[in-house]
Parts: sequence; C-alpha cells; structure tokens
Amino acid sequence: MELRSGGGLRSGLEAALRSAVRDGRLAPGTRLPSSRALAQDLGLARNTVADAYGQLVAEGWLTARQGSGTRVAPGARPQTPVSRSVALAFPGLAAGDHLPYDLRPGSPDLSSFPRTAWVAATRQAMAKAPHDAFGYTDPRGREELRQALAEYLSRVRGVRADPDLIMVCTGYVQAIGLLGKALVELGGQRIAVEALGFPDTLTVLRASSLATTPLPVDEYGADIGALAGQPADAVLLTPAHQFPSGVALSPERRTAAVAWAHATGGVVIEDDYDGEFRYDRQPVGALQGLDPANVVYAGTASKSLAPGVRLAWLVVPERLMEPVVRQKRLADRQSPVIDQLTLAELIAGGAYDRHVRRMRLRYRQRRDRLVTALAAGAPDVRVSGIAAGLHAVIELPDGSPSEAELVKRAAGLGLAVTGMEMYGGSGAERPALVVGYGTPPEHSFAGALRALCATLAA
Ligand SMILES: Cc1ncc(COP(=O)(O)O)c(C=O)c1O
Repeated sequence: MELRSGGGLRSGLEAALRSAVRDGRLAPGTRLPSSRALAQDLGLARNTVADAYGQLVAEGWLTARQGSGTRVAPGARPQTPVSRSVALAFPGLAAGDHLPYDLRPGSPDLSSFPRTAWVAATRQAMAKAPHDAFGYTDPRGREELRQALAEYLSRVRGVRADPDLIMVCTGYVQAIGLLGKALVELGGQRIAVEALGFPDTLTVLRASSLATTPLPVDEYGADIGALAGQPADAVLLTPAHQFPSGVALSPERRTAAVAWAHATGGVVIEDDYDGEFRYDRQPVGALQGLDPANVVYAGTASKSLAPGVRLAWLVVPERLMEPVVRQKRLADRQSPVIDQLTLAELIAGGAYDRHVRRMRLRYRQRRDRLVTALAAGAPDVRVSGIAAGLHAVIELPDGSPSEAELVKRAAGLGLAVTGMEMYGGSGAERPALVVGYGTPPEHSFAGALRALCATLAA
C-alpha cells in the first residue's frame, strides 16, 4: 500500500484504503488486519491506524464489530471506471477528441482566450465588489453585468435591452431550458425549431415538455411561411447566421417572423450565438430590435470568449420575465458571481470589444485561407455560409463518398470533422461537411487545412 507523503499519514492511509475499496482491490466483506498489525507493517503509530479505521467506519466504507474485526462494508461496491464506450456517449467527449487536427464546428480557438485581460478584469472586479456580491444575489445576475450587457448589446447588435429584463444564464443550453419551462408554465405546448440545428436544443426543449415541430430551412433561412400551417406557441431561430447552414434570414422573413408573433401572440426566440462575427458587410442587427415585446434575444460567451466560461444572456419580453426568473431560481438560483463581475469589467473596460475585434480579423483570415485552400485542393466542392460566424458548409459534388465515409477518411488523416447529417440534415439535401475553421489553435490550422484537402481530394 502506498501512502501519500505530506498531508498527514492518517489521511494518506484513509485515502489509500478508500481507493482500494473503490477500485475493487478490497472486496466487500474483506477482513482488514488489526490496527496493531497494520501499524507494525506500515511503521505507523497504532493510533494513526485506529483513527483512520474509525474515520472510514464513520463514512460507511468499513464496519467494525466486536468479535469480527474491521471489514470492508458490504455496501461499498467497487466503482467500475467509466468505460470508453460510455465516455463516447457524451457530446464533448466525442470520438475525434484524440485527433491532432480539429475542424468540428461549435468552438472558437481556445488558445486565444484573453487570459491576461481576464485576470486583470478579475482583479478589478475583486477590488470593487461589495461584500454582499458574494452572497445569494438577484437570480437575474449581477447588476454590473446586466448594465454592461444592455449597453453592449444595444451598441453592437441593435438589441433594445433594459437591464431589468436581462437574465444571465449558465450557458445558452440553460437559457433555452429556462425558456422552455417558462413557456410551459404559461400554457405553451409546441415550439417550431429550424429543421437544421444544434442537437442539444431539441433535447433540452423536449425535456421541458414542449413538443417540437421542424421548420424547413432554405437559402433564405427558416421558412417562416410554414408556420402558417401549424399551431406553435414559439419559434426558435438563428437569424444572423443559421446554424449550421450559415445563411442569414432574409429581410422578408425577418418581417414575417415578427408579424407571425403579432398575429398569434407567439414568442420568437433569437439565438444570436455568433452574431459578432460578420466579415463582408455590416452585421445584420438583432431581430429583437424590431419587436422587443415578442422576441427573446439569446447571446452567449461561448463563441466570443470560450464555452468553458458558461455565461450566456437572455433579453426577455416583460410578459415572460417572471416565469423565467422563477425557473432560474429553481435551476441553480444564480450564475457564478465572480465570473459575472469579471465579464462585466471586461465589457465595460473595452477589453471584450478589443478581443472580439482581434478574433474577427483572425477568423476572417482563416476563412479566406480555407476558401483558397479548397479552390486549389478540392475544386469540385462548393463552400457556403461563409459571410459570418466560425464555420462553413462544404457541399460535396455528385458521386462523392458519403459524409460518414469522409468523416472516417479524415479521421485516418488525423482530422476531426462533422457531416451535416449530425445537425438533422440528411436524405434529400446534398451531402456536406460542416467545418469549424475557428476551432484549431493557430499553430495547427495549416495542418488541419492540408488534412481537409487531402480528405476531399482522395
Ligand atoms: C446554435 C448554437 N447556439 C448556441 C450555442 C452555445 O451554447 P452554450 O452557450 O450553452 O455554450 C451553440 C454552441 O455550440 C450553438 O451551436
């Protein structure tokens, strides 16, 4: 038995025994040596062993009975380590995580996280925060952050945001869950969702007891006209940059979405996940600006900073705010305060804008490199959805291998990529790969592009 040095011999012995029970080396019912014998074997004081046994009895790992000595408790089952197949069932621990090149969509370049600015902002936030900031505070989030977001969203995205109607969430995935449950609380039963989309969204909405109806997507974005034929209490859209097809919702359909909300009393949810990243023309302003009474705006730090920050925000119409706040309280009471204060500082001090500007330039260069590399290395593919965001769609020519085959071939070349099928696109549409050019760190981008071209050219 190996004991940890430092941290106390008794706690080292406790840890070693717990771990032996946990991984099955000590089976339930096994009799342990007497404290005297074990103390002698290990060169410890008898009391040290007796105290460790006593602690583990109190925790339920061991039992001690007069006459039968100290044994491993019958209920202390060894825990099977998480097998690889189970781990692979969780998105984020998916197949491909081990490959050297990664062009899967959904993540910004994590190596560019603004660490220095974040630390400076945390320091400032800590210097300013009143003591009560560290307590149970407003479930909507810290006022400092709601103020900073209201100003930022109005300036950059044209959102009409009252800080009182902002809800800070633990990521968009939580945000959409809160909205789903709030809609159900208000009697909602059905939500229309773009037929191509982020798979977690459907799972979360269904878990909140809403039925989902697919809304077709074409080159003008979601087909809002299709809402006419079906009852829906809400519709979820990605107007600035449809995920994953990359098209912007056409001006006519933006107007139609707002008109539908007016006519039916329905709610439009606008997922603006990468709205800051637009390259070739002026950003399309948020749909929410057209009709703040009926459109919920959802933004996230997952693309502009990193998914691990787990901060997102909703700008909520007044009629939905109360149930959303109630659901947030039920979900986790409030999002972590120190990160909220840091983000508030980062936005108010201008470092967030500077980071977004720097990354916009970098992603634009990457997008251009992707287009140039494909034109030379795989001229038969068609690249689309490239005016904005961090990913592009590569439509495969007739007669090309299936998406699944290409994904497999790419993996053989050390590259993780995703087929359109994964986002609900299959069958009738042309097969395509969805390529997240924002994902790799800068040093591996060129290698990732080479592997992609080799995959498509082979
Ligand atoms: C369409 C879409 N919306 C939102 C998100 C962000 O989710 P979260 O804020 O939970 O990281 C993603 C992440 O991949 C996404 O693809």
